[in-house]
Amino acid sequence: MSKTKLLEIDALQVERESKEILRGISLSIGHGEVHAIMGPNGSGKSTLANTLMGHPSCEVIGGTVNFSGQDLSDLEVNQRANSGMFMAFQYPMEIPGVPLTTFLREAMNTRRGEGNEIGVREFRKTMLEKMELLNMDPAFASRYLNQGFSGGEKKRCEILQMAMLEPSLAILDETDSGLDIDALKIVAEGVNAQRGDHMGVLIITHYQRLLTYIQPDRVHVMVSGQIVESGGPELALKLEDQGYDSYVNRVAEGV
Ligand SMILES: Nc1ncnc2c1ncn2[C@@H]1O[C@H](COP(=O)(O)OP(=O)(O)OP(=O)(O)O)[C@@H](O)[C@H]1O
Ligand SMILES: [Mg+2]
Repeated sequence: MSKTKLLEIDALQVERESKEILRGISLSIGHGEVHAIMGPNGSGKSTLANTLMGHPSCEVIGGTVNFSGQDLSDLEVNQRANSGMFMAFQYPMEIPGVPLTTFLREAMNTRRGEGNEIGVREFRKTMLEKMELLNMDPAFASRYLNQGFSGGEKKRCEILQMAMLEPSLAILDETDSGLDIDALKIVAEGVNAQRGDHMGVLIITHYQRLLTYIQPDRVHVMVSGQIVESGGPELALKLEDQGYDSYVNRVAEGV
């Protein structure tokens, strides 16, 4: 079992509205590894994340995805979450009428399963600890989920969910965008505290800066629905410096 990868994506092709967006993605993440995906707008990064989470608009037309030894296509959306996959969205949704506390507890209890629900006191204690770690005002606990939260507060709230749910794979889609420098460091600390053997991470970002705080094991460049290069953390620096032009041209020329 120990040889099984956390996530194994093989030649994945995905359509949205009958248009092929992912054109043969292969990517493998080991337990506890941090991988980053960078690439121009519209290259398919969020589509990959959404496909992994089972978004209905992403239709898998080829390839396979294996998550913790299970064929992902056999798993419904809620089963994916329950088996340890978590996603922090590029655009977190507002859920009026549902307080953050209620949302978090339901999500946790669903993951823990019937008969194994967390006690109210233990839940509250854990939540307050994690909120303190993320420098969040405890008053947020009773506010409706994301409603009226600033951009940065929404992102921090996503990381709070991650910290509470302790996933085996966290997918962070541009969690750094809209964060001020202090919040960025706090979010990075939150991720770093959980990485290691416990949690693999797939970070989608446009900026090298986040990756100075969360050191990735691998960096991948996605252009036009394909991974065109993979390397170590130094690749992110090269991208920041040189941009994507050479990759975009190569893909356009079919090289
Ligand atoms: N629901 C949808 N229906 C049809 N096309 C879609 C849908 N969602 C995304 N697309 C298209 O898929 C392509 C890839 O979009 P995606 O959001 O995956 O890009 P991205 O790499 O995350 O870009 P960004 O860096 O701007 O977030 C785009 O051309 C986009 O217009
Ligand atoms: Mg995106």
